[in-house]
Amino acid sequence: MNILILGSGGREHSLAWAVLQNPKCDRLIVAPGNAGIAEIADCARLDIEDGGAVAGFADENAIDFVIVGPEAPLAAGVADRLRDAGVAVFGPSAAAAQLEASKAFTKAICDAADAPTAAYAHFTDHAAARAYVQAQPTPIVIKADGLAAGKGVIIAQSQDEALAALGDMFGGSFGAAGTEVVIEEFMEGEEASFFVLCDGETVLPIGTAQDHKRVGEGDTGPNTGGMGAYSPAPVMTPEVTQTALDTIVRPTMAEMARRGTPYQGVLFVGLMIQNGVPRLVEYNVRFGDPECQVLMMRLGAQVLDLMQAVAEGRLDQAQVNWADDHALTVVMAARGYPGRYEKGSVIGGLDNQPQDSHRMVFHAGTARRDGRYVANGGRVLAVTARAESLKEAQKTAYEMVDSIDWPEGFCRRDIGWRALD
Ligand code: AMP
Ligand code: GLY
Repeated sequence: MNILILGSGGREHSLAWAVLQNPKCDRLIVAPGNAGIAEIADCARLDIEDGGAVAGFADENAIDFVIVGPEAPLAAGVADRLRDAGVAVFGPSAAAAQLEASKAFTKAICDAADAPTAAYAHFTDHAAARAYVQAQPTPIVIKADGLAAGKGVIIAQSQDEALAALGDMFGGSFGAAGTEVVIEEFMEGEEASFFVLCDGETVLPIGTAQDHKRVGEGDTGPNTGGMGAYSPAPVMTPEVTQTALDTIVRPTMAEMARRGTPYQGVLFVGLMIQNGVPRLVEYNVRFGDPECQVLMMRLGAQVLDLMQAVAEGRLDQAQVNWADDHALTVVMAARGYPGRYEKGSVIGGLDNQPQDSHRMVFHAGTARRDGRYVANGGRVLAVTARAESLKEAQKTAYEMVDSIDWPEGFCRRDIGWRALD
């Protein structure tokens, strides 16, 4: 099979790494990819949000299967375009991708499916939103409606902060994403990420993880795309997992099918768990980054078979083979991230890193210059290890981190603390 993966981050490096282990994969192209991905697959320049361009590329390169990494091409209808052209694709339609692209849409689906989530109200009018906030307790959560690259969520501790956030959003600081605003009750509890596959009908859980969203140790400082993750997440006990499937995931998938927009792909279910009861924080219509890196390390080659089962609507015959193991990934970022940071600093020590089924340095934002690796983004590496215990996976991952020579980079030293404390 000839396979095309769309995307350029650590998530896509780990997808490529897992897919390549499957003997069904003859040729792998990643577009646009990055310097780490280029070590294991062909990289191609392509506008991955242009469905016509992607379909044309697939045709020219005799691609049998396309795996879409990030949400933007999905929201732009790239999967629809490929399916129309007769190319098998892993990823939901634009209509189904609304589960991530519009928070108001997701809230309406939760209402229809009776899925537990934070109480909310939806506004397109600044004055009405202000009046609502003034009648609510704090903390309170203010969200720009559309895709805002993870920056459209403000957890306001005071009324003043909430009103300022509304001023920013209605003032256009998030562009079109801010002209509609969702205001939510603040949920207490512990967060976890739950990943399921769905082929439109059948739902198959494929793992749990916990991300570390804040930039600083002990979960302090500003939010980021994610500074590290581990899998499994102990808070996702078998009971919590079952409750999440029964009360949130299956009713949502059934509602999507009932509306004539069945969901096909991976659904990233962000949960808040309090006293054993999960509530929905958000859906994403793709794998998480860096959650994908730990899931791929644990699942390996079978991921390709599972993705094909999704695309072909035969997930009811598929099963996941789990090892009783743990994976952990530490993100190394450029100093300054998630604020301003420099690109171009040289990263040493990457050529001597182990690369096996238990240890991989996935590249998130690197380029190759004069034969050396340089930083080319905010999040740059995802240093990942798998072991029988989480403690051991953590130890191995930090040993690898310590053998990387990159003075301009930093990482959190406490990835895994919630599960290990
Ligand atoms: P989102 O972009 O919806 O994932 O929100 C980003 C982060 O904000 C989440 O991962 C949570 O940590 C936090 N968050 C979002 N909504 C809520 C809520 N209603 N209550 C508490 N925390 C929330
Ligand atoms: N790590 C969180 C996300 O991918 O959205």
